[in-house]
Amino acid sequence: MTKKETATLTYNGNTYDLNVLNATMGPDVLDIRKLYADANVFTYDPGFTATASTTSKITYIDGGNGVLLYRGYPIEQLAEKGDFLETSYLLINGELPTHQQRKEFEKTITNHTMLHEQIFSFYKGFRRDAHPMAIMCGVVGALSAFYHDSIDINDEKQRKLATIRLIAKMPSIAAAAYKYSVGQPFMYPQNELSFAGNFLRMCFGVPTEEYKSNPILTRAMDRIFILHADHEQNASTSTVRLAGSSGANPFACIAAGIASLWGPAHGGANEAALAMLEEIGTPDRIPEYIERAKDKNDPFRLMGFGHRVYKNFDPRATLMQKTAHEVLGELGIKDDPLMETARELEQVALNDPYFIEKKLYPNIDFYSGITLRALGFPTSMFTVLFAVARTVGWVAQWEEMMEDPKQKIGRPRQLYTGPVTRDYVSASNR
Ligand code: ACO
Repeated sequence: MTKKETATLTYNGNTYDLNVLNATMGPDVLDIRKLYADANVFTYDPGFTATASTTSKITYIDGGNGVLLYRGYPIEQLAEKGDFLETSYLLINGELPTHQQRKEFEKTITNHTMLHEQIFSFYKGFRRDAHPMAIMCGVVGALSAFYHDSIDINDEKQRKLATIRLIAKMPSIAAAAYKYSVGQPFMYPQNELSFAGNFLRMCFGVPTEEYKSNPILTRAMDRIFILHADHEQNASTSTVRLAGSSGANPFACIAAGIASLWGPAHGGANEAALAMLEEIGTPDRIPEYIERAKDKNDPFRLMGFGHRVYKNFDPRATLMQKTAHEVLGELGIKDDPLMETARELEQVALNDPYFIEKKLYPNIDFYSGITLRALGFPTSMFTVLFAVARTVGWVAQWEEMMEDPKQKIGRPRQLYTGPVTRDYVSASNR
């Protein structure tokens, strides 16, 4: 990186020069790596609102203008013209595949879709009413106990194999979590189907009859996967990187990412957004909920609204809204009350000074719940589907970190505000 300029910091009467690292797009970065050694001071940024935790060439977001690029390609073009496997190849390898590369990648992925048979016994240890995300954390973490030949992080071939296994097996793991919860037999993958088609069949097919794929619904599923595939250094991806920075194996790192994704402020928001729309029920109750969202004494927030990075429309929300219409149209759902409530709520919020001033726009989760529900998924599966797609981003980011010779264990510091040094007092004198 070429240095453009230097920033100067004055502290305790001394001045310190901080190098400026140049980004190819977006804000440059002040390099504070030597600050503690030179000035004996830390920087304070809980929540990483102004801190770049890494360099990355994978995904770019311009939150002010609602732009999302995977390896430079706009999300709109990938979602309209590409498919999930091609997008996965792009995220992992940096370039779109040629025809031949695509064929080989697809073949490699399909050769790894089956799960070790013993894994199915693992599922049976869970209660039937277990949340599928709880099952996902457990089963994905357990993969390192099944695939010993892909946990050596210093062996590039093993890392590649783990990457392929994770992408290929995640739909099988997620579908099995669903089948277990409804008490139906697990379905084996069908390799002649597309990635999304195979996943839908493993979820909704049964061994007793042939599963008929619907191309429009399959395409919608594929697009949902593309839209969720990566989002630069979000909470779950940062979790994967932090776990990986200690040298943990890739299956353990992705299990950590799944745990982080589960929270309602992150991947769990699609479930929460649908629950909120169901609670609101009809458009006439919207004003009451808008008032609650604005009330500082009420913890209620409009789920599916607001984003740490987007201060404009989340471009994925626009594509997701279109996908929702396509799915509802295909299924002949004309007057879905939830869709009506969502549309109305969006309009009311977008015209309300509170939301305008705070730049709170619908995010991807606002419309994804409606779409997934129409596809037939129970709300408990929504975040699981997010995890299936985001696995690609997680492994791409993990691999990028592993290939970085400057990679160090992630170890934030703190502003200590506890008691100063004091002497131990024996129990009888306390
Ligand atoms: N409803 C009402 N008010 C909101 C909302 C909301 N959805 N989101 C933010 N605000 C308000 C906050 O109260 C705060 O107000 P204040 O400045 O007066 O205190 C201000 O807007 C800024 O909010 P922060 O929480 O500081 O913003 P942050 O960047 O930390 O949070 C987040 C972003 C977590 C996404 C937040 O907007 C939120 O909780 N949204 C609802 C959950 C959601 O939809 N999450 C999905 C994210 S997308 C994804 O993971 C795929």
